[in-house]
Amino acid sequence: MPRKIALITGITGQDGAYLARLLLKKKYIVHGIIRKSSSFNTARIDEIYEDPFKKKKSLILHYGDMTDFSSINSIVSKVKPDEVYNLAAQSHVAVSFKNPEYTTDVNALGALRLLESIYQNNLKKTKFYQASTSELFGNPKYKIQNEKTPFYTKSPYGTSKLFAYWITKNYRESYNMFASNGILFNHESPLRGETFVTKKITKAITKIYKKKQDCLYIGNLNSKRDWGHAKDYVYFQWQILQQKKPMDVVVSTNKQYSVRQFIEECCKHIGWNIKWKGRGLNEVGYILEKRRKKIIIKVSKAYFRPNEVESLRGKSLLAKQKLKLKLKYSFKDIVKEMMDDDLKKIEYE
Ligand code: NAP
Ligand code: GDD
Repeated sequence: MPRKIALITGITGQDGAYLARLLLKKKYIVHGIIRKSSSFNTARIDEIYEDPFKKKKSLILHYGDMTDFSSINSIVSKVKPDEVYNLAAQSHVAVSFKNPEYTTDVNALGALRLLESIYQNNLKKTKFYQASTSELFGNPKYKIQNEKTPFYTKSPYGTSKLFAYWITKNYRESYNMFASNGILFNHESPLRGETFVTKKITKAITKIYKKKQDCLYIGNLNSKRDWGHAKDYVYFQWQILQQKKPMDVVVSTNKQYSVRQFIEECCKHIGWNIKWKGRGLNEVGYILEKRRKKIIIKVSKAYFRPNEVESLRGKSLLAKQKLKLKLKYSFKDIVKEMMDDDLKKIEYE
């Protein structure tokens, strides 16, 4: 049997790094698109990196950019992948308010460029995965979201992903392409980018614990998310492309915690009992140190968004049915793994 060929955009990101490992374990030949950067941006895949001069390679990296059709098209036509995972994105919601046009170019037109390239190259058997998101849901009327929940985006990021969701469906329906949307809820890990709230919290709390930082400035403490683990979720990205038919499917834990609860759980992990006082922008979180109050959390307006998805909680019935969705990591496991990893790393800083 010839080895399957996968192409991953966004291979240097959190999900790309886990997915590449998974596919290599499954004996795929993995091609990844990386961007030119003035400093190294491959830290998350350094462990699996292969010498480009090696004869039989399983991991091959190509320079390209989602904003540049010529680079995408030349890679697709050369690689002729069996499976394409479109994970590349300007993925930070708050940043999308500052860079709305760029976010749209990468996330919305980027998906279009990739689909069009598969189509133009007549790759009829190529399967396409689009990294869709729970940010498509934003209407507080729907407390629990599934595939049937009406979309209501609240940010340039969400709206760019809405275009990508629909263009994926359009190519599926128009050209009979195997093109699927994985509507994934938030997923975290030690490889999570440092400006996302979970990683920002675990990193800061370990620093405060080791007396390398005084206090953490945070935004909306009451925002609620359905947090899973990236390692669990990339398995279902792969599963989505192993189905007989393309589909649009929610992957979530069906549980929900607030940013405040995430902080409390991190503190618990190191034996701290955090307490809260004040309201709104004046709220602080403190611990008792030698019977004195030590403020470790402050709220800052700088981390509030112009518009916010306040509450996300998915119901993944379809995934349970079709993908046999079963998750290994609980909320507590995620916090533990991220905290332990940051505690280990801080020793080397
Ligand atoms: P991430 O860590 O931010 O990774 C994004 C990847 O996209 C990085 O490899 C980045 O390259 C690459 N990229 C950004 N702009 C690019 C461009 N112009 N051309 C080529 N590559 C570009 O994101 P993630 O958490 O792994 O998420 C993966 C995908 O799933 C994203 O599309 C995200 O929107 C979506 N998603 C994520 C979640 C979640 O909770 N993690 C939930 C739902 C959907 P650099 O390394 O060079 O920056
Ligand atoms: N980043 C950040 N920084 N978020 C904060 C902060 C802060 O200091 N304080 C509070 N928050 C709140 C945000 O307002 C949001 O409600 C929540 O914490 C989670 O923020 P992020 O971790 O930045 O993730 P996100 O939910 O906005 O977006 C992530 O999940 C989406 C899926 O729902 C990203 O991974 C997106 O790419 C993904 O599509």
